[in-house]
Amino acid sequence: MKGLVLCAGKGTRLRPLTYTTAKHLIPVANKPVIFYTLEFMKKANVNEIAIVVSPENEALFKETLKDGAQLGMHIEYVVQPQPKGIAHAVFISREFLKDEPFLLVLGDNLVFEDTSSVVKSFESENIDAYVLLARVKDPRAYGVAVLEDGRIVHVEEKPKEPKSDLAIVGVYLFRKSVFEAIENIKPSWRGELEITDAIGYLVQKGYVVRAHVIQGWWKDTGKPEDLLEANRRILDAMEDGECAGKIDDSTIVQGRVCVAKGSIIAGSLIRGPVVIGENCRIVNSYVGPYTSIGNGVILENCEVENSILMDESKLSNLSARIDSSLIGKGVSISQNGKLPKAMKFVVGDLSSLEL
Ligand code: G1P
Repeated sequence: MKGLVLCAGKGTRLRPLTYTTAKHLIPVANKPVIFYTLEFMKKANVNEIAIVVSPENEALFKETLKDGAQLGMHIEYVVQPQPKGIAHAVFISREFLKDEPFLLVLGDNLVFEDTSSVVKSFESENIDAYVLLARVKDPRAYGVAVLEDGRIVHVEEKPKEPKSDLAIVGVYLFRKSVFEAIENIKPSWRGELEITDAIGYLVQKGYVVRAHVIQGWWKDTGKPEDLLEANRRILDAMEDGECAGKIDDSTIVQGRVCVAKGSIIAGSLIRGPVVIGENCRIVNSYVGPYTSIGNGVILENCEVENSILMDESKLSNLSARIDSSLIGKGVSISQNGKLPKAMKFVVGDLSSLEL
């Protein structure tokens, strides 16, 4: 069983972060989102993987994941020159997939459910496609499926009037019949070859398309609030980690807190769940629940909670608490108390500041 992970999306809703990185490489609990996707695939025993990237983010992915050996996987890359849809991405990966069955995962989807039994039943039974679904309150932003006895009888992409509350979560199992389906569909209103339409073709032609409705939590991490929610979920599930950093006697540590090597914490209150990367300096500060701090971060005289601070960012002397924030790499926020009491910004395009 091969695996295909789609990571060519532009991540426009996560700008300006996605001007310098891909949305799948943004850290959540100090690991890029894509790592969780790959761990999910590994759990399902799928270790031979191709990642579909865009020409813009190809180098970033190769630099981060290389050939996959560090994760115990084999990773290749397929470049999708233009964003022509999920089914198009599958089609151009045919040389890698050959005619083998494969697990397709959208790289920004986080699914925390062990699906190895679904993969096993797909491999051993006479099923042409398996689609993971989840019940949602408002399915209009998703592909929506209608089921009869576990079999999909109807699918529609982003319907105005959904026929069920079962959303397609972005995890699929296919066989080579999907290529016949893709060859027979036309681009949708958004100019994309929709995988939902390919599934619709399989259903219409009488192929067996089954569904598994997941019970656990899943998230499409397209927006800042989704990343913060994913961060909370992952930190909540975090086990008591190692504390390799130096924590002085005047610091109070409450709850589950992981501090990586080379970090120094002094005169502070750290209230978990919190994860702190390598070589950080946290002085006279409060780090509250659900905060992930990357490597080389400096915090001096400030308070932060429910936030993601990326590598080398620096926060100092802040009179207000930083909350529900995504702070990019190398960002510096400080307050100097001098007159005039003005705010000074050098902020990139499409940044968002709430004061
Ligand atoms: C894509 C799929 C859709 C699915 C969704 C899950 O939508 O087309 O069927 O429900 O992913 O996240 P998109 O993210 O391209 O709008």
